Amino acid sequence: MALNRAEVHNMAAGPSPLPTSVLQQAAKGLLNYNGTGMGVCELSHRGKEFKGIVEKAEADLRELLQIPDSHAVLFTQGGGTTQFSSVFLNMLAYHRLKSKDVPAEQYSPPTVDYIVTGAWSSKASAEAKRLAVPPTPNAQALANVHIAATTKPTKFNRVPRKEEYNFTNDAAYVYYCENETINGVQFAGDVDSPAAVPFDLIPNDVPIVADYSSSFISRPIPHIERHALIYAGAQKNLGPAGVVVVIVRKDLLVDTNEAALLGGVPVCPIELEYKILADNGSLYNTPPVFSIYVSQLVLRYLIEEKGGMAGVKETNEKKAKLLYAALEEAERKGLVRLTVSDREARSWMNVTWVIDEADGDEESSREKRFLKGAEAQGFRQIKGHRSVGGIRASIYNAVSLESVQELVNYIKNWAAAEKWM
Ligand SMILES: Cc1ncc(COP(=O)(O)O)c(C=O)c1O
Repeated sequence: MALNRAEVHNMAAGPSPLPTSVLQQAAKGLLNYNGTGMGVCELSHRGKEFKGIVEKAEADLRELLQIPDSHAVLFTQGGGTTQFSSVFLNMLAYHRLKSKDVPAEQYSPPTVDYIVTGAWSSKASAEAKRLAVPPTPNAQALANVHIAATTKPTKFNRVPRKEEYNFTNDAAYVYYCENETINGVQFAGDVDSPAAVPFDLIPNDVPIVADYSSSFISRPIPHIERHALIYAGAQKNLGPAGVVVVIVRKDLLVDTNEAALLGGVPVCPIELEYKILADNGSLYNTPPVFSIYVSQLVLRYLIEEKGGMAGVKETNEKKAKLLYAALEEAERKGLVRLTVSDREARSWMNVTWVIDEADGDEESSREKRFLKGAEAQGFRQIKGHRSVGGIRASIYNAVSLESVQELVNYIKNWAAAEKWM
């Protein structure tokens, strides 16, 4: 059966839905950009039209997130995963250049601190370890990867409590993932919450790096100016997969070759060096033109139609509150369990819960019934990530309050029916 877009509630975790009006506009631009008679994917990335798109995207992003002038905005490729490596290589180079006078044989490898709150920060720290410790026998480690706090023992059902953090005084950087897409756990947006990122505990001169892939432009970024680097893959709130935004403090744009020549740090592939990207206005090599174009349209749309960051935040907060309230009610009836126990650390973007934890009977399981009923009502892509199971409703910016209300109605009806089964 062929379905219309309006008939489904797409709650995918990424790639995720984009606003219909933006896609309509993008479809036109794909055929004929701005009356040039050429599609946006057929224009030189060095021409004035495409440069204009990149400049507009940057200006709108700066406006939405209040990005200070101290920070550069870069558009790059390789997904969030490539950033796991880029961050490590560039930050180590920056750290090495701060002690230029120290000869290689006297340079001790720095510590890098990771806060591990779910699958993505686990992967990022694993990549840092892989790059830090060459697999050859007796090779010297290039860095000591230290886990400053982790909630793995409690299956990532919360963020760490203040007293659990153990930061290194002179770390080359501290890394965290603001919203864990798979586990549904997010640092609180309110800086005074016990579930907020513990900015006050991180030594002042230690650079802070954050993965904002799945919560980017969903609400303001607390203490944006305190971050050395923030990155986000586009494919949740911003645009099609293929582009990654990097917001980086300008003094961190360092020549990685110069650092490597000093000894003690690895060589950085050219495409991963932030300085190269910045020096070339994100156009060092051919960029993902269509992804950048759609992202620019999305940013404009948020400013013109959605009330900017304040408006977007307000709607996202309402959506999350509505859905969590319905799930908490079902939880009180013993029908579901919210996987994140700490209410203040529940994600506004990826809402995760389980049904039937101990039910081995596939056919009769409540979860199956839930998913089948949801599918019939038009809900799509809400099965939990294969590594954790359960249900995950991703309610990114392009998922409307009305769609969330429909899901709440469905959950309530399902819960009422289940009570009698
Ligand atoms: C929070 C987060 N970080 C990193 C990644 C990895 O991104 P990519 O698949 O673009 O490499 C994802 C992917 O979903 C993510 O959700």
